[in-house]
Amino acid sequence: MGQLEGKTAFVTGGMGGIGSAICARFAKEGAQVVAADIAGGDGLPDCVTHVPYDVTDEKAVIGAFSDLAAQWDKLDILVNAAAIEIEKTIEETSLEDWNRIFAINVTGMFLTSKYALPLLRKSAGASVINFGSYDGYIADPQLAAYCATKGAVHALTKAMACDHGPEGIRVNAICPGYVDTPMLQSFFQDAGDIESLKQAVRDVHPMRTYGTPEDIANLVNWLASDEARYASGQLWVIDGGLSAQVQQMRL
Ligand SMILES: NC(=O)c1ccc[n+]([C@@H]2O[C@H](COP(=O)([O-])OP(=O)(O)OC[C@H]3O[C@@H](n4cnc5c(N)ncnc54)[C@H](O)[C@@H]3O)[C@@H](O)[C@H]2O)c1
Repeated sequence: MGQLEGKTAFVTGGMGGIGSAICARFAKEGAQVVAADIAGGDGLPDCVTHVPYDVTDEKAVIGAFSDLAAQWDKLDILVNAAAIEIEKTIEETSLEDWNRIFAINVTGMFLTSKYALPLLRKSAGASVINFGSYDGYIADPQLAAYCATKGAVHALTKAMACDHGPEGIRVNAICPGYVDTPMLQSFFQDAGDIESLKQAVRDVHPMRTYGTPEDIANLVNWLASDEARYASGQLWVIDGGLSAQVQQMRL
């Protein structure tokens, strides 16, 4: 029997590199899964349902949870993975860029979580998993607004865990390092010598590798499962040891 048998899951950013690996793993573990994404729905396992979904659109979010409530009598797992990255310093970042990335990465998480709560309360043990980043602890150069959004996600995660723990809802954040997804590929695309940059990224990790979406899905799966019943309000860094190491020691 799968670890998530009988559970229901809603995954924003479910068509993304990490989101689609999470949807596939949840389905393999026996959950009913909705992948909610602004992007189209090809390439997911047959048992995962895609819904077109924009995390920034409050009316659309309300409509999606009203539709979900007509199909499911509870929601056990909410994963907030939708996000964008903007590779700029604050000086290069326009107010429009700043507002857009906060609308998707932070306000979108707030809206989805807010309107998911009535269904989450009906679960016997709900789990919300927000996507932060190691960039919410330490900064990558030229990702200023992105780092700020991930710091906000970390604070929001703890606040939600405090407010909704008494209702039986666990809330955690996953904070990945570099994970090989379209988001990371776009980061590499801007480099002149992509292979050298990829090797340099591997070399700064104590484990000499970057992560795969499946590495992240393994931890998400555990946090979603009943084995994690005592885990809440935490920021789970998964980064091949990257943030444990003082980088100057490799000079
Ligand atoms: N890849 C990494 O190295 C890395 C590192 C740390 C944290 N993260 C975080 O992990 C999560 C998943 O990232 P990923 O690497 O899979 O990225 P990705 O770009 O592959 O996926 C992001 C998904 O979000 C969706 N999305 C964007 N705007 C949306 C909107 N308005 N409404 C609904 N969906 C929207 C996109 O269509 C895409 O499918 C993100 O929160 C990201 O910040 C990724």
